[in-house]
Amino acid sequence: MNRIAVCGVSNRALGMFIEPVIQQFAQQNQIVGLLDNDERRIEICKERFTNLVALPAYSETQFDKMVEETKPTMIIVTSRDDTHIDYILKGLEHNLTVVTEKPMVTTVSDAKRVMEAEEKSSGKVIVAFNYRYNAFHRKIKEMVLEGKIGRVTSVDLNWYIDTYHGASYFKRWNRKREFSGGLSIHKSTHHFDLVNWWIDQKPEEVFAYGALNYYGKDGELNPSQTDKRYCGTCDEKLNCDYYMRWNNRSRTVQIKDDHLKSEGIEKSAKSYTNYRPDACIFDHEIDIEDTYVATVKYDKGAFLSYSINFSVPFEGYRLAINGTKGRIETQEFHELSRVPFPVPEQTIDYYPLFGAKESIHVVQGEGGHGGGDPILQEDIFLGVDPTRPYDILAGAKAGAYSIAVGEGVWRSSKENKPMKVKDMFQEYTTLT
Ligand SMILES: NC(=O)c1ccc[n+]([C@@H]2O[C@H](COP(=O)([O-])OP(=O)(O)OC[C@H]3O[C@@H](n4cnc5c(N)ncnc54)[C@H](O)[C@@H]3O)[C@@H](O)[C@H]2O)c1
Repeated sequence: MNRIAVCGVSNRALGMFIEPVIQQFAQQNQIVGLLDNDERRIEICKERFTNLVALPAYSETQFDKMVEETKPTMIIVTSRDDTHIDYILKGLEHNLTVVTEKPMVTTVSDAKRVMEAEEKSSGKVIVAFNYRYNAFHRKIKEMVLEGKIGRVTSVDLNWYIDTYHGASYFKRWNRKREFSGGLSIHKSTHHFDLVNWWIDQKPEEVFAYGALNYYGKDGELNPSQTDKRYCGTCDEKLNCDYYMRWNNRSRTVQIKDDHLKSEGIEKSAKSYTNYRPDACIFDHEIDIEDTYVATVKYDKGAFLSYSINFSVPFEGYRLAINGTKGRIETQEFHELSRVPFPVPEQTIDYYPLFGAKESIHVVQGEGGHGGGDPILQEDIFLGVDPTRPYDILAGAKAGAYSIAVGEGVWRSSKENKPMKVKDMFQEYTTLT
């Protein structure tokens, strides 16, 4: 029986981990403890899952006490990004299996600390990179592994985040680099990990530009340069295009989104103590970027051309992977209900260098992130699927490489120079 303690009773913890453990994986798994620095989060969890009412709860300084009293075999780290490092290191010290949400940590130096700690521990780190498990993404991995495009030479990946989802990062703690590492880490590590995994090459050097174009006090659509407004209490919201795109004058439109549940502003504000997740997207304290373009060079010769933009009229991505024998291409329009016009079905198009094009209609599963979340949950709570012929569950090294690219993107854009992954880690040998 897996005995699981949850560190950070976030929305993600409730929906992605606690609920499935209780509803689907209870025969093999049991939640034994909850830890959060906000008692309100423990209450919210116990209100939602009444069979957890008697569960012991701990504050952020009581990790050791929690381990002693509840004897977990696994911890799930789902707290604010900057706090992951504390629980990962403590979990490894106690030789536990540590499942952490992405980003594993928020800096390269912390990533290195995790890898060093893992070497000394009989525990291990699993990074919950759910995007790998999306049906399209698995199919692409399988096509690359089958050699359909030969040796990968270049990848084009453009990621688009719509005005609903994009704004959500600027209403919450994610908008401060000290908490999230900035969006090249908090968000783009998903994408960098995907590319690293698909092509099975190691990133060596990164060059990038970044800017804050839409959000922050100088955002063009800011109704006025007033600081510290909250959507729920703001008297300028009728003049705020970002707010009115997804709301009308009397109600919030109901949208299912992992990052901002459609529970209504006042209800979500009451889900935390001294914290409202509806802070103004034009606040003065915002210190991260919302637009990046980057080039990454890989150790076996591939180049990645990447961009991300957090204020686009629709959500999705465009991907092309080119190789010595052909090209794979796909375009996703995410969550069709949020796209205000007809969009094509996602397919994977395969163009051999010489020969006929194939269009693949991928079989998709139910569940979050393109059906990826439920399969990742099975790998975590039942053990890795022994029939799958390739590695998919990510560890600390994959977490670290994704962070190295993310930090490289940010630092390159600030320092206006290419960043070498090796230099960022100083002792490259730890990673090879
Ligand atoms: N893989 C995905 O697709 C995905 C999606 C959403 C969120 N996430 C990740 O899940 C995690 C939670 O995100 P969320 O948006 O659900 O967060 P949230 O804002 O709902 O919750 C953050 C939680 O962390 C707690 N916290 C803050 N400081 C703490 C500390 N020192 N010790 C313990 N707890 C502390 C807060 O009280 C709160 O309960 C983040 O790491 C985020 O990046 C991943």
